[in-house]
This record gives sequence, structure tokens and C-alpha cells, in this order.
Amino acid sequence: MAKELKTIGVLTSGGDAPGMNAAIRAVVREALGKGLKVKGIKRGYAGLLQEEIIDMEARDVSDTIQKGGTILQTARCMEFTTPEGQQRGAQVCKKHGIDGVIVVGGDGSFKGAQKLAALGINTVGLPGTIDLDIACTEYTIGFDTAVNTAMQAIDKVRDTSTSHERCSIIEVMGRGAGFIALWTGIANGAEDILLPERYDYDEQKLVNHIIENRKRGKQHHIIINAEGIGHSVSMARRIEAATGIETRATILGHMQRGGSPTCKDRVYASIMGALAVDLLCQGKSNRVVAYHNGEFVDYDIDEALAMKKGISEYQFEVCKNLSI
Ligand code: ADP
Ligand code: F6P
Repeated sequence: MAKELKTIGVLTSGGDAPGMNAAIRAVVREALGKGLKVKGIKRGYAGLLQEEIIDMEARDVSDTIQKGGTILQTARCMEFTTPEGQQRGAQVCKKHGIDGVIVVGGDGSFKGAQKLAALGINTVGLPGTIDLDIACTEYTIGFDTAVNTAMQAIDKVRDTSTSHERCSIIEVMGRGAGFIALWTGIANGAEDILLPERYDYDEQKLVNHIIENRKRGKQHHIIINAEGIGHSVSMARRIEAATGIETRATILGHMQRGGSPTCKDRVYASIMGALAVDLLCQGKSNRVVAYHNGEFVDYDIDEALAMKKGISEYQFEVCKNLSI
């Protein structure tokens, strides 16, 4: 018979994302409501190995749902990618009476959760990343806030770009994934979007497009460049030289990871956090919570990590077609 669940731990790992605090709050309060004890594990897997473990009560998550970042802090931890590190992590959980761990992070963090599960600690992952690059889910905690932050910043760059009749290259985050670039490309009416999944490195085509658009009366030319392609500053120099049109590069950077979460991020993160606790209470382990076809669901982590997701060809075409 499965051991009765008494104490759960919660940690955030990898890059932070707005809405992580809403998820932590939901985990803490759903668990307390079910009569469980909750331990906060600080600084991701690094804090687990260092035994940075605190008791969490309902008041410890007061006044956090509206805050960006993560109150538990986050980290990347190489040691936990080794079998020795994982063994130690499982031992620390046992020492502190932690029967189940909820891990908020991306695919890398889920691999850690998978390893802990194999060592007898029940785990559930929550998709937390601004990049939306987790294949099993159509929603990740933080993406909505990040794209709204980027969209507002790009609107501002566009104002000055139009006044000066310039070309603007705006670089958005997303590691190897182009979802933030695609969404802001559509939302900001960009003339070009460069996605790592699609870019053919044909800069002459880009130059021709900028010149054609100028002839068609466009007063600016907004290029959203995904971080996975990068090199926005040197690209701007080359484009200015080739087109004769003043070109500036703006790299939005870490501002996209901060700020108060949107309503969607607060609500979805809260529901996912509560669901993660319910799954642990049902005796489930090695699961990841996802959003699919309008519903909150869960998958086996092994299956989830094997899934693939790409950029929608149709959405990419829409972006191009609407920017004439
Ligand atoms: P994300 O979770 O956003 O994908 P990372 O890839 O940086 O971010 O992973 C976060 C952390 O998860 C790593 O620093 C490491 O501690 C842990 N991790 C990543 N890959 C593995 C792995 N293969 N096995 C165990 N832990 C891992
Ligand atoms: O995964 C989230 C993310 O913001 C990526 O978009 C970006 O490539 C990376 O993290 C940046 O990481 P760091 O905070 O270590 O610079």
C-alpha cells in the first residue's frame, strides 16, 4: 500500500517566471487545507542539496499572488544533474520527512523531478517558463505576462521608430524557441519576425523587404528578432548600410521575466498549483500538469519530455500576410 502523504515540498527551478508565486501560494494553501504540512525548498535543487528548507504556513504566502519573481528564489544546479547529487537530494527529502515534491520549472527541472521520483520521492511538475517551450502544454506559467510586457515595450519603440522613419530590430527572449517572437510579431504588427525555427539567414531578402515597404509608404519597419538568432546590434549595422535607412537595435532582455503577473497567469498558476497537490494526494508521481484543449490535465513526465512542439505554420503566415 502507498505510504500516507503527510508533508510536501515545493521548489522553483531554472529561469523565474511571473506567476510562480501564485503557484507556490496555491500549493501551500491547497495542501494546508488538506491537512498536510508544507516545506518550502529555497533556490531550486541547489537549495535542496544545501538543506535550505523552511516550514510554510498560510500567512507565509500572503500578499504574493500579485508579485513577480519567486519568493522561494530559483537557481540552476549542475550538481543535481549527477546521480550522486540526485541520491543526496532524495536523502535530504527523506531526512526532512518530505514525501512529495512539487517542482515549478521547465523541461530541465522536470528531468530532476523524474530522477527524484525514480528514487522514491513522489513528484509533480508545474510548467513554469516565459518561453512556452514545453511540448505537452499549450500554456506555461509566465508566458502571458512576458508577452504582454514585451508587447507594451515594442509599442513604445514603434512610436519613436515611426517618428524617425527608422527600421527597428527588437530582440525578445525565448532561448531556442520563437513563441514570444511569434506572438509579439502578431500583436505588434511587425513587418518581419525572425524565428529560430524558421529563419533561413537570407539577409538580402530582409533588406529587399525593408526597401519595398518604404516604397509602399511604410514609415517604419519593425523586425522582431528571437534571442535564438540574436546578434541584433550587428544585424542593425548591416541593414542600415545595405538599405540606407537608419536602423536601431533594442534588446528587451530580462525585463520580460519580471513584473506583476497578468490575470491569466495568476488564475492558471493557481489552478495548476492546486491540481499538483491533488495529484500527490491521489498517490500519483512522476507527473506534469499541463493545459490542453481548454482543460487542465496531467501527463507522465517521461511521456511529456518525449513530446515535440513546433511553431504553427499558419500563425507564422498570418503574421506575414497582415503586415503588408
Ligand atoms: P528549465 O527547468 O527552465 O528547463 P534548466 O534546463 O536550466 O531550466 O534546468 C533547471 C535545473 O534542473 C538545472 O539547473 C538542474 O539542476 C536541473 N536539471 C536539468 N537537467 C537535469 C537532468 N538531466 N537531471 C537532473 N536534473 C536536471
Ligand atoms: O528560459 C527563460 C529565459 O529567460 C530564456 O528566454 C533565456 O534564454 C534565459 O532564460 C536567460 O537565462 P539567464 O537568466 O540565465 O540569463
